[in-house]
Amino acid sequence: MKLDRALGLLREVPDFPLPGVVFRDLTPVLADPDALRAVVDALQDRIHPDTQLVAAVESRGFLLGAALGYGWRYGVVPLRKPGKLPSVTHRVSYALEYGEATLELPAGSITPGQHVVVVDDVLATGGTAVAACELVEKAGGVVTGVSVVLEIPGLGGRERLAGHRVDALLTV
Ligand code: PRP
Ligand code: MG
Repeated sequence: MKLDRALGLLREVPDFPLPGVVFRDLTPVLADPDALRAVVDALQDRIHPDTQLVAAVESRGFLLGAALGYGWRYGVVPLRKPGKLPSVTHRVSYALEYGEATLELPAGSITPGQHVVVVDDVLATGGTAVAACELVEKAGGVVTGVSVVLEIPGLGGRERLAGHRVDALLTV
């Protein structure tokens, strides 16, 4: 399936999770086998060739990160919301488009010098992706880029990630 047709399955849900917020729902893309493959292939096409490891952001980044890891033989590290991991080396808190959040890195999951791509579904304010990059770097990893399906411009995400390669399949 062509990428634009796959991305055409994205669903916009107004007023979720709060009034005034438009939720971009990737569910119909993931639920379609051809669309899922087109999106994951397109993410892989843009990932820096030095990459060894995928840092996948909980929770929607997990699906894409695991598919990339399996398909192209990257290891996958989950960057988790608080209280889920038995052993944590680093934690970073950040502001979301709505609310505040924390991400944690599992102990021993990144070897210093490893080349790591951060994978998530959406880049909005960039708070999540910046925190993810900080976690990778705190562990001594080298961020090769941030890969997302969807970028929402005008919220400062790309600007906050200045210095990092940002690859988005779609900008809305
Ligand atoms: C959403 C989305 C990204 C993040 C983008 O996740 O999946 O991870 O927000 O926003 P930002 O660029 O403003 O940080 P959310 O934290 O809502 O949780 P989920 O993935 O568990 O649904
Ligand atoms: Mg998320």
